[in-house]
Formats: sequence, structure tokens, C-alpha cells
Amino acid sequence: MKKFHLFFFILLFIVFVESCKNITGTERDVFSKFHKSCEYYRDFDKNPRTIINNEIEFVSPGDWTSGFYPGCLWYAYEITGDTCYLTEAEKHTGLLKNQKDNGTTHDMGFKMFCSYGNGYKITNNKKYKNILLESAKTLATRYNPEVGCVRSWDHHKNQWEYPVIIDNMMNLELLFWAFEQTHDSTYYKIAVSHADKTMKNHFRKDYSSWHVVDYDSVTGKVIKKTTHQGYSDSSAWARGQAWGLYGFTMAYRFTRFKRYLEQAQNIAHYILSNKNLPDDLIPYWDFSLPSYENAPRDASAAAIISSALFELSEYSAENSNYYRTTANKILNNLVKYYQTPGTFPKKYFILDHSTGNYPANSEIDVPIIYADYYFLEAVYRRDTISGKQ
Ligand code: GLY
Repeated sequence: MKKFHLFFFILLFIVFVESCKNITGTERDVFSKFHKSCEYYRDFDKNPRTIINNEIEFVSPGDWTSGFYPGCLWYAYEITGDTCYLTEAEKHTGLLKNQKDNGTTHDMGFKMFCSYGNGYKITNNKKYKNILLESAKTLATRYNPEVGCVRSWDHHKNQWEYPVIIDNMMNLELLFWAFEQTHDSTYYKIAVSHADKTMKNHFRKDYSSWHVVDYDSVTGKVIKKTTHQGYSDSSAWARGQAWGLYGFTMAYRFTRFKRYLEQAQNIAHYILSNKNLPDDLIPYWDFSLPSYENAPRDASAAAIISSALFELSEYSAENSNYYRTTANKILNNLVKYYQTPGTFPKKYFILDHSTGNYPANSEIDVPIIYADYYFLEAVYRRDTISGKQ
């Protein structure tokens, strides 16, 4: 009998050791890591973006990623209640104040809604609300009624006349929010028109999307459909698919239009049933590569997909459990296998293995701040969604 006990104990021990082998990170590591980052970045008057040449790259307020670090701080504060995050969130959000008047890019939503938007939701600070409303007003100036979309980029004028990128769906959240606050229907009409045009012109039959659609700014006709950060014009750039999924889920939240919910579910199907999605559900940087040997992943796309699926699980009657289970799987895999190592400078980010712009040989397989932002948002959503329709 004793021998049997000993044998049973050894067996249990082996099973335990084997199951621990793959576990490299826990959620507790995430928050102890982020707390140290918060203390480190306290001494800087700029917001971090990524790592270049083994140094942390900080960006000026005009950079499209400048709102994500303040957004991380707001989510960390909401999740943990630790007031140290609150002080830093206020400081790092304040750095972006003048961006409210920057009409040179569509990235207003990324910059201002992740920082001031989260700040306003949490603090109800009227100054934050006014800055957000100014930002929405500035963003709306980029709308062309002939095209029916907000113009994305002003750069590469020799390449595109009126470029609209799939990422731009994300910036509609600021416009929908401004309509709710002011009841000025201009914001709502712009956002709905942009979403409808995007649905019509950005998507292929299989619900994958082109990255850039170029329009004739006078006739509103499509000139061409191309890529900028994907593998090819006809490929499905992973983060672009994630932006589309998140964008149409969010558009449904504000409008309750069935067509947006169906679009989001069709995009989810494209992503989740894709033969090139790895078993751990963390996409390679593009879904249409000719070979995946040594292809880098994009943890940022995974974090965006997880966050979007948590929200979509609240709206979808038939797929609610599937979306929530999948969002959880992605989150758990990011926590276990994609956290940064504890060495400088990676230790001041949460997630490793994101890919920013592969064709430009920029930010490949590195930590990038927007991966951390959508990861924290996914954690927050997981802990707060009702689980009901
Ligand atoms: N919005 C730019 C990107 O996703 O890289």
C-alpha cells in the first residue's frame, strides 16, 4: 500500500513538473511588471512607444501612438485601484493636450480617446470632456462628403490621392462619443457614412480587408486598393483584420445596426477559421504569407482581437460563448508565453513579439505600446463583461 502511495505521489509530481514547463508568465507578473514601468516612466515627460537599438523609444505628442501609455495607466488604475497609476495617468494624459487642434491626421481617436477618453470615463473631469469635444471637432474637418469618409493620411501624396485605411474605423469611436455628448448629428452621420463606405469598399468576399483604399476626392470613386504595412496588396495584414473586427463591433455598440454586427461576426469568422492562424491564436504579421518559416508574430493583433471578441461576445446571440472562450484563450496565451523578459529595456513593456511595419523593416518582433494597451483593455473587459446579451 505504501509503495502504491509513493508511486502515486511521484506520478503526480511528474505531471505537475511537466505542466509547469511551458508556463513562463502569470497575470500577477503582468501587474508587478507594469508597476515598475510606471515608476520608471515617472521621470519622463514623453510617452514610450517601442524599443529601437536596445533603447526605449519615446514619442512626441503628435505620434499616433502617444495616447496608448496614458491609456495603459488608466486601465491599470481601473483594474487595480492603485492610486499611483492615477497620478501618472493624469500627468501622461496632460502631455497630449495640444493635439486637440492637430487636424493633420485621422489618428486623433487613437491619441485622444485612449488617453482623455479613458480619463474622462473614470474621473468625470469636465476639462477632459472639453478637450475631447475639441478633438472630435478637429477630426470631423477631415471628412469629405463626396468620398463619404474621413481622410486617413496626408503623407505619400505622390502615391495616394485620398487614402482611407482600415485602421481609421477605430477613430470613429471619438465621433460617436461626441454625438452622444452633444446630440450634434453631424458626428453620427460622418461616422456611419465612413463605416458604410468601409464595409462596401474595404472588404473582399471572404471578409478579409484591404489596408488602404484610395479615393478620387472630387468624384468619390475608388481609384485603387493597396497595402502599406501588409505583405501585398491582395494579402490580409493581421493588424488590419483586427482593427476591422474591433471597429465594426464598436460601431454596433453605438448604432445597434444589424449590418455592423454581421460584419464583425464575419470578420471574426475569417480570422478564427483561418488556416494560417497558429494553434496558440497569436497571428503571424500577415494571414497571406507564401511561407511561415521564421515569420514573426504580431501580439498586438492578438490583443486587439481578444479585446474585440470580449465585447462582441456581449452582442452575439449565437456565438457568445465561443467568442468569450476564444478571447480568454488568446489572453491566457499572451500572459503565459508572450510576456517580455525581465531584462532592460524590454522589462518596461508587458508584451513582446509585436510587428509594427514589416515591409518597412520597422518594429519587427518587439514590444510595442499598443499591444500592452489592448491587452490591459482585454483584461478589464474580461473582468467586467456581463456574459449576457
Ligand atoms: N495604425 C497604424 C498601425 O496599426 O500600425
